[in-house]
Amino acid sequence: MSQNVNDLRKAFIQYFEQQGHRAVPSAPLIPQADPTLLFTNAGMNQFKRVFLGEETRAYNRAVTVQKCLRAGGKHNDLENVGYTRRHHTFFEMLGNFSFGDYFKEDAIRFGWEFLTSVVGLSKERMWVTIFREDDEADRLWRKIGLSPNRIVRCDEKDNFWQMADTGPCGPCSELHFDQGPAVPGDATPNGEGDRVIEIWNLVFMQFNRAGAGTLNPLPKPSIDTGMGLERLTAVAQGKLSNYDSDLFAPLLAAIGGRAGVQYGAQEQADRSMRVIADHLRAITFLMADGVLPSNEGRGYVLRRILRRAARHGRLLGITEPFLHGLTATVVAHMGEAYHELRAAAGTVAEATRGEEERFIATLDQGLPILTDMLTKARAAGQQTLSGTDMFKLYDTYGFPMDLIAEACREQGIRLDETGFEAAIEEQRTRARKTGGFETETTRPALRELAARVGSTAFVGYDQLNSEGVVQALLKNDRLVKEAREGEEIEVVLDVTPFYAEGGGQAGDQGLLTGTDGSVEIRETTRPVPTLIVHKGVVRSGSVREGERLKLSVNRRTRQDAARNHTATHLVHAALRDLLGPHVKTDLS
Ligand code: ALA
Repeated sequence: MSQNVNDLRKAFIQYFEQQGHRAVPSAPLIPQADPTLLFTNAGMNQFKRVFLGEETRAYNRAVTVQKCLRAGGKHNDLENVGYTRRHHTFFEMLGNFSFGDYFKEDAIRFGWEFLTSVVGLSKERMWVTIFREDDEADRLWRKIGLSPNRIVRCDEKDNFWQMADTGPCGPCSELHFDQGPAVPGDATPNGEGDRVIEIWNLVFMQFNRAGAGTLNPLPKPSIDTGMGLERLTAVAQGKLSNYDSDLFAPLLAAIGGRAGVQYGAQEQADRSMRVIADHLRAITFLMADGVLPSNEGRGYVLRRILRRAARHGRLLGITEPFLHGLTATVVAHMGEAYHELRAAAGTVAEATRGEEERFIATLDQGLPILTDMLTKARAAGQQTLSGTDMFKLYDTYGFPMDLIAEACREQGIRLDETGFEAAIEEQRTRARKTGGFETETTRPALRELAARVGSTAFVGYDQLNSEGVVQALLKNDRLVKEAREGEEIEVVLDVTPFYAEGGGQAGDQGLLTGTDGSVEIRETTRPVPTLIVHKGVVRSGSVREGERLKLSVNRRTRQDAARNHTATHLVHAALRDLLGPHVKTDLS
């Protein structure tokens, strides 16, 4: 068959249709029925309730090509994009699903047949991994004709897949492909380097994990599989990088044309071109699904992606807004498979241009200063950008911290985090003396905290319980080391399952428990984009900064909030039906 990416996508659907599967359209990137998920990140998301037996469909076999985004939230590949040849924010996941119909034997047979007979990958180069105790999968792979020394048993880390701490899960078997000795790395699966790469994950869905240590059998054993189209395309075309396949070629050519450089000529420029190519796809698909740049939630993730792409444009010498023009290349190349791109093309270009202009104004001020600081630091033989310089960029010029960090990383220069904290502390003291800050509504204490603590990792898409370490305690907007029974406080943690109020959905309530006390949380907010703040009362004993706490979200209020949120989505859907597709929800 032709190894062209559009043909591979079609061949996948066609093959599984021939095996009795219903072709189901991709769900949007914004999960419509699962407000606990930031972005759709796997093909099975839209079928979660079917696996759990909570919903039935008119079919029990399905095949999809699912739009996915892994940036921000639980799965975050953003910082790696560009630096590797395999990471993406936006990607397409090919998957076949059985809802209580066929199980391991057919899943294995379909996977093998599609890759070796339809796509035509060499059988001799294939490896499979199976779960340590899965003798049945071992037997089935031998039955297919795979030699026993190509079947590798692995433990939970690699071969037991689960959506999250709770939800559908089961042992899995992965198909891996040996790209040959030209690629550095081990000649076996899950080793060092990229030589043997995973292509397809077949999950034998058997359980619902109800909580730590509790596995309940699913109503019926089922199948969930996932294969990245970007990786499959590269392998099928004999390319050692996803970016060398025809999925990225038109985009890289357009970017090269705009920047006056050719992909492949120079590594540093190549990296920027990879970042831009990847991010352009994410920007176009996100906007077409109704996300617009903003300062929180999904919009904030989009803003970060767009600004990172814009900055890499600068590194290629492009100083004008340019991304908006290139979104048309994404639409032209992928509009046939995703019609929503064509419908939204004008809006996407316009919104991208607006955000580029806003960012360029910031960069115009900040970049020459940053470059100058780095040049001076290097000329003076320093390995570090001083805290004072960092503070100046951040505070005076509003330069985003992650871009300062990335620019330094590129030049092998470290950040003086301690000096930065000291500069912030100094400013706080100064401000307090003049009384200036205390009256501001923007809560400077929290902004400073965000700069010091970094960000709170949200882990509550699918779990309601976890543990976290107290990064800061605030009482009346002042940092305190300890809080006691009866005191009203705000708690900032490194990790939290508490959903912060945003985009129309109320924040979580619940309980934080330490060794000497507990805090009842009544409100969770995100007052600055990176920081989740838990507001509540110390119920008993005391809690301290640096203490590890058990975090537990009140299930009932979360569900109420989620239901209200879903209802709002339904109202919006009705409005769209009534008024037209330009009605977009700005719900995060
Ligand atoms: N849901 C499985 C994955 O994402 C197939 O790997």
